Amino acid sequence: MVWVRVSSLHRPVLRNFCHYKALSRSFSATISKHRGVVVGVYEEGEGIQLSQAGETINKQCGGQLQRQLKQAGRKLKAGKTRVLFGLDEAGFSSVAVVGVGKKGVGYNEQEQVEEGRERVRKAVANGVRQLSEVGEVNVDVDPCGDAEAAAEGALLSLFSYDELKAKDSRKPRVHTSCFTDHIQGDSTTTKESWQRGVTLAEGQNLARYLMEAPSNYMTPSIFARLAQDKLGQSQQCTVTVRNKAWAEEHKMESFLSVAKGSVEQPLFLEIDYQGGAPGDTPIALVGKGITFDSGGISLKPGADMDKMRADMGGAACVMGALLATSRLRLPVNIKGLIPLCENMPSSRALKPGDVVRAMNGKTIQVDNTDAEGRLILADALCYAETFNPSLILDLATLTGAVAVALGSGATAVYTNSTSMWDVIHKAGTRTGDRVWRMPLFKHYTNQVTHCDLADLNNIGKYSREGGSCTAAAFLKEFVTNKRWLHLDIAGVMMNKDEVPYLGKGMAGRPTRTLVEFLNTLSRQKLD
Ligand code: BES
Ligand code: ZN
Ligand code: ZN
Repeated sequence: MVWVRVSSLHRPVLRNFCHYKALSRSFSATISKHRGVVVGVYEEGEGIQLSQAGETINKQCGGQLQRQLKQAGRKLKAGKTRVLFGLDEAGFSSVAVVGVGKKGVGYNEQEQVEEGRERVRKAVANGVRQLSEVGEVNVDVDPCGDAEAAAEGALLSLFSYDELKAKDSRKPRVHTSCFTDHIQGDSTTTKESWQRGVTLAEGQNLARYLMEAPSNYMTPSIFARLAQDKLGQSQQCTVTVRNKAWAEEHKMESFLSVAKGSVEQPLFLEIDYQGGAPGDTPIALVGKGITFDSGGISLKPGADMDKMRADMGGAACVMGALLATSRLRLPVNIKGLIPLCENMPSSRALKPGDVVRAMNGKTIQVDNTDAEGRLILADALCYAETFNPSLILDLATLTGAVAVALGSGATAVYTNSTSMWDVIHKAGTRTGDRVWRMPLFKHYTNQVTHCDLADLNNIGKYSREGGSCTAAAFLKEFVTNKRWLHLDIAGVMMNKDEVPYLGKGMAGRPTRTLVEFLNTLSRQKLD
C-alpha cells in the first residue's frame, strides 16, 4: 500500500490533476483515500469528551486524535469545527471534529425545539461542508447519538442547484455514510435511523430543487412530468395529470382566471398515495403551484421578482413530503392536490375588479391580481372537500405579510383544530423546522367579505394590515372540513444563513415537519 500524506494546501492542486487519467492512475492510492470523517465531541466541564466513535478512531490512530486536540487547546463549543490531518492510520485523510455541546440536551421551551437534535444537525453540517471544501468525496459521519439528525445535517448541507453551470464549476458530489465501527454488536437500529434521516433530507432536497429551478425550467408541464418520474416509481403512488378542459368541467373558474394571462397551460395534479388500507379515509394535501408569479396586471416591482420562481413552494413541499412518505412506507392514504400555472400580465390576463366564480359557487372580486395564490387554492380546497378527507392541509407561499410577522423563524399555521395544532407543533419541535399558530378570527373574515360586487374580495379591506390573516380568512370560506390547516410558508421560502445546515437559497421548508406530522397521524385513528 502506498501512503501519501496530503496537506490541506496541496490537496486542491492534486484534485485538479485527477482529471487526467494517467495521473489519476499513478496516484490511485491517494485518490481512493479521499475519505474524511466527522467526529463529535461533547462539552464537559472545562474540557471536551470524545464521542464513542471518536474514541474508536482515536484508538485506531494510536491516540493521535486526542493529542492533536489537546495541542490545539481550548474547548470546542457547540457548532464549532476543527479539521485535523495526518491521522491516516485510522484510514481517513482528514477528520472534522465538531462540537455538539453538552450531552443529553432535550427540549428547549424558549426555543420550542429539541435542542440536542438540532445541535447534531448543525454540527454535522458544518463538519461535512468543511471536509467537502478540503476535497473529500467520501465522508463518514459519527451518528453523535442521533443518526437521523446527523444524516439530515449531512445531506441538507450538501445540496446545491448547479446543474445549469459548466461541469467544472459545479460542486463535486460528496457521498456520506454512517460511521458504525464503534458499535459493538448489532448496528441495525443506528443504520435504520440514519436511513430515515437520509429519506427526510432527500424529500426536503427535492422540494428545494423544484423551488430553485428557474421558471423556464419548471413550467407546469415540466413539474407534472417530474412528479410522474419521481413518484410514479413507487408502487403505492399514482399521479394523474388533469388539463384545462378538466378544470373547466369542474367549474374551477377562480383557478383558471389566474392561468389566463400566460401561454403556459394550467395543469392540476392529483397524486394518490395508498399506504393505508384501501378504504381508509385519505388526508388531503394541497400545494400552491404558481411556477412564476409576476403579479399579473397588478405587476410586482422588478427587485427580487426572480424569487417568484419559487412561488410553487407549497406544491414542492407536497412533492417532497410524498416522496419521503412513500419511501418510509407510512401506513396512511394521502391525496396530493396541486394546481399549477403561471401568473402573468397580458391582454388575456385577469384584470383588477374582475369577478370570478369558484367551484363552490362563491363569487370573488379580484381587486389585486397579485393575490393569486388564494384564487387557485380556493378551487383546489373545494375539490379536496369532494373526497371527504379526514383532514385538509394546504401549504402556500401566500403573503409577503407573513414574512413581516414571523420572518423565517417559523411557518405560520392557521387551523380550526387544536388537536391538529398540537400534532404539527410537536412535529416542528422534533424536526427543528418550527411552526407558530395564528388566528382565524371573524375580525379578519369581515375584512374579506366586505365587497362591492361579489361575495368575497381577494384582498382585505384595510389593504396590507394583517395580510397573512386576511388571506387565511379568505381560504376559510372554501373549507367545511372540521380539520383544516393552512400553512403560510412565504416567510420560510428562502434561506440566507439563518438555518446553518441549509445554506443560501430556496429552503424546502417545512417538508420534514409535514412528514413528521403525517407520521404521527398514520399511527392514530381520526374519526
Ligand atoms: N407569492 C406572493 C407572496 C410572496 C411574497 C411569497 C414574498 C414569497 C415572498 C403572493 O402571491 C402575493 O403576491 N401576495 C401579495 C398579496 C397582496 C396583494 C394582498 C403580497 O403579499 O404582497
Ligand atoms: Zn402574487
Ligand atoms: Zn404568489
